[in-house]
Amino acid sequence: MINKLNRAFIFDLDGVITETSEYHFMAWKTVCKKIGYDLTRKKNEELKGVNRNKCLDMIMKWAKIRLTEKEIESLLEAKNNIYIDYIKDLNENDVCEGVLNFINDAIKNNIKIALYSASRNAKRILCQLKIIDLFTVIIDGNNVTNVKPDPEGFKIAADLTKTNTKDCVVFEDSISGIEGANKLNMYTVGIGSRDVLKNADVVYKGFKNLKIKDIINV
Ligand code: BG6
Ligand code: MG
Repeated sequence: MINKLNRAFIFDLDGVITETSEYHFMAWKTVCKKIGYDLTRKKNEELKGVNRNKCLDMIMKWAKIRLTEKEIESLLEAKNNIYIDYIKDLNENDVCEGVLNFINDAIKNNIKIALYSASRNAKRILCQLKIIDLFTVIIDGNNVTNVKPDPEGFKIAADLTKTNTKDCVVFEDSISGIEGANKLNMYTVGIGSRDVLKNADVVYKGFKNLKIKDIINV
């Protein structure tokens, strides 16, 4: 009997499938201003892939300030409201170039398609982009206890797609996401720049000219 390879692609959302990472940055930048902290793009790289609460913890450390529970809650709410406003008109035209062809090609080759995003807004965005049905497994910020760089979400995605972790390929734009997937020896494809995603197995600018045969043997 032919032992067919069982493989899964696990996609991050923000900054991989759609350019919402820029909106996260702009929303945090506005919130940081309120507490007198200037969030740079370089520092923002560390916030990518990290969940909302932990992002604010990191910002408080960088800004060397302490806030009350009430202030924290109010800043988290403010950040999300600003972000939600940015994404309110997001639609199918906002899927990054090449992503749909890439995923459809993978599906044709029997590769399982999963999503693991730290965002609690992930499903809403997938619906707005009209691509939610492409994913057989969706893990978002509501489904994990331990956030990236912890590998928990990647492990759940592998388990739910019934794929060995070593046969999973992860597409990530964040340092924390690459770190998490590397802990499970998944093959990591960085989307962005090699200067930032130093520990990814390979790095591509995006999906525009990327073919699945560039990543795995089909
Ligand atoms: C990740 C983003 O996908 O989701 C982070 O890279 C963001 O920047 C995190 O903080 C949480 O998102 P949300 O929508 O739940 O605040
Ligand atoms: Mg991301």
